[in-house]
Amino acid sequence: MKKAISGFSKLSKKDKLKWIVETFFKDPEKVLTELKSYWMKDHDAQKILDQFSENTISNFHLPYGVAPNFMINGTTYCVPMVIEESSVVAAASKSAKYWLTRGGFHAEVVSTLKVGQVHFTWKGDIQLLRKRFTELKSRLLSSVEELTARMEARGGGIRGMELVDLSDLEPDTYQLRVLFDTVDSMGANFINSVLEAFAKELILFSREDQVLKESGDHLEVLMSILSNYTPQCLVKAWVTCPIDDLGTFEAFDAYQLAQRFHHAVRIAQIDPYRATTHNKGIFNGIDAVVLATANDFRAVEANGHAYAAKDGQYRSLTHCSIDDGIFKFWIEIPLALGTVGGLTKLHPMARRSLELLGNPSAKELMMIVASMGLAQNFAAVKSLVTTGIQKGHMRMHLSNILVQLGANEEECAAAQSHFEDRVVSFNAVRTFLDMLKSRPSVEKDQHLTI
Ligand code: MEV
Repeated sequence: MKKAISGFSKLSKKDKLKWIVETFFKDPEKVLTELKSYWMKDHDAQKILDQFSENTISNFHLPYGVAPNFMINGTTYCVPMVIEESSVVAAASKSAKYWLTRGGFHAEVVSTLKVGQVHFTWKGDIQLLRKRFTELKSRLLSSVEELTARMEARGGGIRGMELVDLSDLEPDTYQLRVLFDTVDSMGANFINSVLEAFAKELILFSREDQVLKESGDHLEVLMSILSNYTPQCLVKAWVTCPIDDLGTFEAFDAYQLAQRFHHAVRIAQIDPYRATTHNKGIFNGIDAVVLATANDFRAVEANGHAYAAKDGQYRSLTHCSIDDGIFKFWIEIPLALGTVGGLTKLHPMARRSLELLGNPSAKELMMIVASMGLAQNFAAVKSLVTTGIQKGHMRMHLSNILVQLGANEEECAAAQSHFEDRVVSFNAVRTFLDMLKSRPSVEKDQHLTI
């Protein structure tokens, strides 16, 4: 059977599915039934999902969980999280509860500016362009008045524009760098539309302006697109308490815990290998909320990682200090999020997520997401410097293996107690279940260990 096809996108959903199962699967009938079983029963609801993307043949489910008890600036939230990794929601919930009795999370939005770029080449003298920049700027702004009117009515709009010279790095290379405030929307469509209009006007200007025309030099636009790096769309979140209030944990007193925690964060500051894993843990929490609210997690990740490397070395996004007996742990991260527009209100579950959060503004969502990242990191680092991460992870891992192996309730309970102090692996669990199944039922009931 041929595995390439032309005109696939024009096929109906059913025909796409038929071609897929017949071409790529050994058991087409079974796979067809399985893929269709994940369609939503409500035809209209399924249609909404299908419209978000292309060539859809089924839905891919991820768990939708919640982390309650997140007190941020005095308001308590129950935060929705979409994530497939076990332990993440549990860790977030544990952190939230821990800080609930220690003043909660504090957060502030530092700034909310987003960036767009029109990249162009200019073979002439940049001073000529600089000389005409004020004129150019006013032509560009008037060319997008219609586009910006609604955004301005909502309190946003264009906040600045500069001519950036990259010609010492790449010949003839320049850009218009534009700052935007898109209020509660992520604003990608708005920004890109404005930039494309700017690009057209920039070309016209270069051809019509007397000074530029006379130079005989040629301006060519290469591309116009927003930048996902938004260091001026920045939020801070922190937790703090007297060291004594941290409490003892496992074998460690509060002072030892604070020192070990502080040291671990320092290592993530100085070592990119550790920083990558450290920040990955932060994004475990961040991505889960970003996904639950149908924001663009790829954009959020790219932005955060670029910011983590802003001084030329990739570093931790969180910081820790111990001063005068006070423990402080904080995150500073750019987050370009929206609570209107995009899929935020179109996706039925995203709509519910926002409702669960009290229909926050984009600024409020930035503070919630940053606090979640901090909470996640707090839980991970605290575990790492005390019990180690595997204890909690393995319990969840064991549950996943048991589901995979189709264990019943009784077998799950027996396995949980058997693996309390043993190393969990897929094979070990399978062997345990096999042995359990081969035992007489009276022995099984006693949860015999093997
Ligand atoms: C696992 O998904 C995340 C951690 O590795 C993060 C960390 O090491 O800080 C536990």
